[in-house]
Amino acid sequence: MDALRLTFERQLKEALPGVEITLERPKSGELGDLAFPCFRAAKQLGKNPVQLSQELAAAIRVEGATLVAAGPYLNLKLAPETRAQAVLGAILAAPSGRPYGARPAQGKKVIVEYSSPNIAKLFTIGHLRSTMIGHALAQTHRFLGYDVVRLNHLGDWGTQFGTLLAAYTRWAEAENPELQRDFDWAEPAPEKRRTPLFRLFQLYVRFHAEEEQDPAMRDEARAWFKRLEDNDPKARALWKRFRDLSLAEFQRIYDRLGVGFDTLEQGEAFYEDRLAATLKRLEDAGLLVEGDKGARIVNLEDVGIATPCLVQKADGTSIYATRDLAAALYRQEAYAFDRCLYVVGTDQVLHFQQIFAVLDKLDPWFKGRMVHTPFGMVKLPEGKMSTRKGNVIFLEDVLDEARERVAAIIEEKNPELKDRAGVAEMLGMGAVVFFDAMNDRVKPITFTWDRVIALDGDTGPYVQYAHARIMSVLRKAGGDWAAKAQAGRADGPFLPFAGSKVPADLAGLEAPEAQGLLFELAGFPGSVGAVVDGCMATPLARQLVGLARSFSGFYTNCPILAPENPPEVREARLALCVATARVLRQGLFLMGIQAPEEM
Ligand code: ARG
Repeated sequence: MDALRLTFERQLKEALPGVEITLERPKSGELGDLAFPCFRAAKQLGKNPVQLSQELAAAIRVEGATLVAAGPYLNLKLAPETRAQAVLGAILAAPSGRPYGARPAQGKKVIVEYSSPNIAKLFTIGHLRSTMIGHALAQTHRFLGYDVVRLNHLGDWGTQFGTLLAAYTRWAEAENPELQRDFDWAEPAPEKRRTPLFRLFQLYVRFHAEEEQDPAMRDEARAWFKRLEDNDPKARALWKRFRDLSLAEFQRIYDRLGVGFDTLEQGEAFYEDRLAATLKRLEDAGLLVEGDKGARIVNLEDVGIATPCLVQKADGTSIYATRDLAAALYRQEAYAFDRCLYVVGTDQVLHFQQIFAVLDKLDPWFKGRMVHTPFGMVKLPEGKMSTRKGNVIFLEDVLDEARERVAAIIEEKNPELKDRAGVAEMLGMGAVVFFDAMNDRVKPITFTWDRVIALDGDTGPYVQYAHARIMSVLRKAGGDWAAKAQAGRADGPFLPFAGSKVPADLAGLEAPEAQGLLFELAGFPGSVGAVVDGCMATPLARQLVGLARSFSGFYTNCPILAPENPPEVREARLALCVATARVLRQGLFLMGIQAPEEM
């Protein structure tokens, strides 16, 4: 495909000297494989774009393709066998030795910061977005040749620890001095939540509820945070215990999701001993101003941000923003990155505008390198989720429920299936993660069980099903067909690449459904690129649904293993199956979803 694109581009350049040539992908494979929109060139030449496209169609020749003027577009459409050869060659025989769609090293370093939950709170469905969008961004960036550092800005510092320490010492310490085990507590906990961490969460919720009645409690919490910042041994020891308990819990969930980080040691607390230096730098740069009652701020009015960035509270304690500034300065030094992506909800847009503006003032090096990729918050039908108020949906409950719903269906439809539990888990996860990706990144999502765990329609299981169905055809075909598609264990974002031959005779792929599927496959590299460009997994998710749907059309209309098929037809169609299975699997994998062999 690349070679044909180059030829087409070259021809266009010769016909249109001095005009910048950009090619697009037509809406469907029936229109063609590549489109040249004539608008800009026509304007430059003072011509009508419709007329220009007709002139070009008559003037240009590309071997193996026809040129068709479609209104203001000049479409290049490959002959069926040429298209099959180009697409299958790129996927099966990849001359570069790289998996289809992957790019060579770009020599650029990208930090992807994602997930970043707050310690001592439980993982809710709200955390899924940052975690999975971030994971997909990290995976696709690596796939496209970037050097990626995956960071988790754990919320392991801040005033909420004052609240936790106050609540714990008030109500739980006497009974469970080191929070070693579950303890009796007036409020019931569901069986599977009888854990110290869940009790902490309950304490936190109770504290906030009672504090409404008794504002003096707020000072108690503040005093505890001050003790923590002042290195009080008791406050420290408890903080550490809370942190360890939380990390163990988070790790369990990350393992279940198949998500990882290059370090979990660079949370907010990590920057604590850099805060003074950060404030000093701001001061030396003349940016620090006295705010209300001795608080310290950086004014940003001159860069169009009305709200100043608060960096130190009146009582001398640091805040969230101070730690983000320290983190950015540390990352500059430690990683010398080209881009730093913050996968954080839309509710923090202003926060990042402020942080980035302060950094730009401090050092122009930061300009253009810092990117906040906000995503819409997950809401409940009754409103915002709030850990403080205790109305949250836990991610694990959603994953468990999804798994159970799938298991019930398998039990009914395919009770013979081998690894039933494993498959149920993969499909359940596929449903939840894919649902998230299909949503527009920045719009809020209203959580209802049935929407998030939908198994029909444009869902992860639909794509997973297409893959499993192909694998079943390949197993039936015998020989090493299934092995050709099976990728084995993935290495980072890459499925292992095992080159195989493209059949010599591809006449079995002339049918429009086979051509449609080939066209969809040709779109894969572009959709992976769109994930990186748009910082969201949606284009890839849509592409995979399109592929699954196209495969279904091909499968229905082009018999693969029919006994009357001549051997070369069978072989060509099986090769297309192998290519489709690999691309589906690679695509799902980039999104953090597994593809079972059977379902
Ligand atoms: N812990 C924060 C929260 O739960 C998110 C942190 C985002 N990252 C950052 N660098 N501020 O809201």
